[in-house]
Amino acid sequence: MLLVTGATGNVGRHLLNLLVADGHRVRALSRDPQRAAWPTEVDAVAGDLADPASLDAALTGVTSVFLFAAPGTGPAFVAAAQRAGVRRVVLMSSGAVDDDADVQNGPIATYHAEIEQALRGSGLAWTVLRPDVFATNTLMWAGQTRSGDVIRGAYAGAASAPVHEADLAAVAAAALTEDGHAGQVYRLTGPASLTHADQAAILGRALGRAIRYVELPAEVVREAMSAHVPGPILDDIFATWAGSVGRTAPTTVDVEKVTGRPARSYHDWVLDHAAAF
Ligand SMILES: NC(=O)c1ccc[n+]([C@@H]2O[C@H](COP(=O)([O-])OP(=O)(O)OC[C@H]3O[C@@H](n4cnc5c(N)ncnc54)[C@H](OP(=O)(O)O)[C@@H]3O)[C@@H](O)[C@H]2O)c1
Repeated sequence: MLLVTGATGNVGRHLLNLLVADGHRVRALSRDPQRAAWPTEVDAVAGDLADPASLDAALTGVTSVFLFAAPGTGPAFVAAAQRAGVRRVVLMSSGAVDDDADVQNGPIATYHAEIEQALRGSGLAWTVLRPDVFATNTLMWAGQTRSGDVIRGAYAGAASAPVHEADLAAVAAAALTEDGHAGQVYRLTGPASLTHADQAAILGRALGRAIRYVELPAEVVREAMSAHVPGPILDDIFATWAGSVGRTAPTTVDVEKVTGRPARSYHDWVLDHAAAF
């Protein structure tokens, strides 16, 4: 039995479908499983990574886990997985983690690195996925593109290599179900370094519209986002954006190495999500 945590999320939903299509027995964890619609083959259970006692039932009979990185939950998850006899864990970590740093830079890298660390010392067969930013982050522009052809946001020149959630799910499925991925750290990116302005232009091309990105002062955007995102995480995001202006985001071939298919482009991602925009 495979357990998918983060099963209602961007990657988890795809991963469930891939595993079911491949004939695996799959259990899905959600803090509120009643809220979601599940494939009929999936056994959806309630559980919260922040409440270790809720994990014992969810982990019963499970051999492999796709692990969502809930801050501060690494050691308790590892203990529960060891109790249950889990053998393999695939962690959705973050590309922000820096192996060369004595101290991780910012809260996002820090809490992901802590969970990685808990797995490394656990005796479990672990695989770490470190994605660059998800293309799904640009769904935050959908409200603007539904009402016009201008996206207003911070740092037009902030660069990243946005990755399609379906590629992340495909890598996770391989690492969960095939041998040869234990002890591997995969750095997962889309195929190209794109600025926010590039992404807006690609959105427009894919949708057949002339969409452009208009840069607003960072403080204005930060204030608007502070209603939804905690301050320290926002600081991290804005520092990353500011630091990436004028740079080329690194790209890797790890998606292709693991799945046998090149990473999907941002253009393809937009076509897959055209209805949202
Ligand atoms: N977004 C990015 O650019 C990016 C970049 C690098 C790495 N990542 C990593 O990928 C993760 C997912 O990102 P996302 O933006 O795609 O998230 P998302 O789709 O919003 O998914 C969040 C998922 O996590 C589950 N979850 C949250 N807290 C939980 C808890 N305490 N116990 C159990 N499940 C919990 C939620 O399930 P329920 O609500 O159903 O419980 C939901 O399925 C991030 O948290 C980060 O670790 C993201």
